[in-house]
Amino acid sequence: MAPRKRILSGMRPTGRFHLGNYYGAARNWVRLQDEYDCFYMVADYHGLTSQPHATAFERDLIDLAADMMAVGVRPESIYLQSSVPEVAELFLLFTMVTPYGWVQRVPTFKEMARQQPDNVNMGLFSYPVLQAADILLVKGDAVPVGQDQDAHIEMARETARRFNRLYGNVFPEPATLRTETPKILGTDGRAKMSKSLGNIVGVTAEPEVIRKQVLSMVTDTRRAYLSQPGHPKSCNVDSLYKIFFPDDWQHYWDLCRKAEIGCHEKKRILGERIIETFAPFRQARAELSDEAVKRHLAEGSRRARDVARATVAEARSAVGLLPGL
Ligand code: TRP
Repeated sequence: MAPRKRILSGMRPTGRFHLGNYYGAARNWVRLQDEYDCFYMVADYHGLTSQPHATAFERDLIDLAADMMAVGVRPESIYLQSSVPEVAELFLLFTMVTPYGWVQRVPTFKEMARQQPDNVNMGLFSYPVLQAADILLVKGDAVPVGQDQDAHIEMARETARRFNRLYGNVFPEPATLRTETPKILGTDGRAKMSKSLGNIVGVTAEPEVIRKQVLSMVTDTRRAYLSQPGHPKSCNVDSLYKIFFPDDWQHYWDLCRKAEIGCHEKKRILGERIIETFAPFRQARAELSDEAVKRHLAEGSRRARDVARATVAEARSAVGLLPGL
């Protein structure tokens, strides 16, 4: 039997796991587990580009790993980026083959710089170089990501190509593995769900938290009275309902169109269904102690590190460095 193809993906620890993380990434990671040899990373070095508070950051990265495990990602495939420090060495080697113009062109840099104008650091600038190192370090065949990461994956491919041309064939060119990812808007109904915008709905959060978040959702702004028919087509509550619960979505759409259900009631129902649906995840999360999560992370990181050591040794020798004295 041919060996399974290897995939790699990562998430930055930026606060509690939400529905956007789940439907946009983690759910696909879980689905791909049987078909691929998986490396899923908590990208803590990348997280440092926005200089989070150390105590909160440590909490966030344990929470992210725990939430990944709770929603069904196998602990052995999860690792902590900084526990595989070889990535920093490969990053350094890659900075030497990455033309300035490449990083300058990456649209996410401009976007991130806009989000934190007072802190446009080198880490932000070289973000895609580090990401290329993540991917090529384990010689990933493919990277499951959303469209927002296209420019980064393209740069990883370019880096592999250039390194190989200069130094011989070391790295496979990673493909993008486009998985189906519905666009999940936040509770404001405008922007993509994101912790930094404060418009999230949790997955493993406590029921009261989820209830409050869902009830805060912006609904159909054109509907002034309960007796007026609603416009579910332009209502984020309806859009989310359709994505999460396609089975009986039509029923609530009809009720809204016939003015037989109000926005508040529809949100209440959506909230309760989210709470009920994710109860097994919440339960699994509650059963994971920080110690257990750290133990799993250490194990997963050892597995990634074994692969990383071999790759870095190969890259060092390719560029003419000594094996390390
Ligand atoms: N940049 C990705 C994001 O913001 C996270 C990430 C870091 C990643 N390293 C990666 C994704 C390697 C895929 C592969 O979502």
